[in-house]
Parts: sequence; C-alpha cells; structure tokens
Amino acid sequence: MVCLGNICRSPVAEGIMRRKIKEYGIDAEVDSAGTGGWHAGESPDDRMTGVARRFGTDISTQRARKFSVADFHRFDRIYVMDRSNYSDVLHLAQNEEETCKVDMLLNVIYPGKNMDVPDPYYGGREGFENVYRLVDAACEKIAQELQKM
Ligand code: 4NP
Repeated sequence: MVCLGNICRSPVAEGIMRRKIKEYGIDAEVDSAGTGGWHAGESPDDRMTGVARRFGTDISTQRARKFSVADFHRFDRIYVMDRSNYSDVLHLAQNEEETCKVDMLLNVIYPGKNMDVPDPYYGGREGFENVYRLVDAACEKIAQELQKM
C-alpha cells in the first residue's frame, strides 16, 4: 500500500488489510510505504490514527518508510492511492513484470476509473473519514478475492 507520506492513507490501508487477512484467515504479507521520505520513522498522522481507531483499526504502532525498488521483489501486488503515486512508483519499475504489479487501489472497486484516494492532509476530519471508507471498501474486495485463490 503506497501513498505520498506514508502517514495517512497507506497506513490505514495497511491496517485495514492486515485486519481483514486475519479475519478471513488469508496467508499474506502486507506493508505500506510512501513515495517521499520526509516522514520516515514517524508515527501515522494523529487525525488518521483517531479516525481509524473509531472505525476499529489500530494503526498507532506503524512507522513511516520510503518505498524502494526492493519492494518490487518483496510483493506480488503494489496498490497506490493516487495518480501521482502511480507515476512515481512506475518510474522505479525495471521491467514489465514489475510494472504489472502496480495498480490504483480504487480500481479494485471501480475498475478502469483510475480514481484517487484523495489526499486528506490539508483538509478536515471528513477527508480522513472518506479515506477510511474508500480504503475499507477496496480492501474488503481484495480480501474476498484472495480468499477464493
Ligand atoms: P499521505 O498524506 O500521502 O496519505 O501520507 C500526506 C502526508 C504528508 C504530506 C502530504 C500528504 N506532506 O506534504 O507532508
């Protein structure tokens, strides 16, 4: 799960996905990262942590890190939150196989629409709640599909 800072959207995506793979009994590894490294080592944004907690997901122990080319080897799928993340991650892909691993998270529930999970950083609480709902819906779909595999 990849966003810009790895302190708002992708931590909540990691937290929700972690919870769902446990609930569904799926054997999978989940992690998150940011395309930028400014917040590396930091906890998630308090506003995101608070909203996530109210919705039942604990993201408080996560620490931000920067996305690296090694992630293409570690993971089968790389979900990005917006178009800008998409182009930043694709620039680091070295071949067709790595390129194919990358998709916009909301394409899981709105195929082919290339919709962004809007960056909530400079907005109010509704923005964080909107992020939670969108990401939760996409992660639910991913979990259901993984369970069938
Ligand atoms: P995120 O949100 O990409 O969802 O973690 C942001 C976090 C930090 C900044 C921008 C977006 N920033 O500009 O520092």
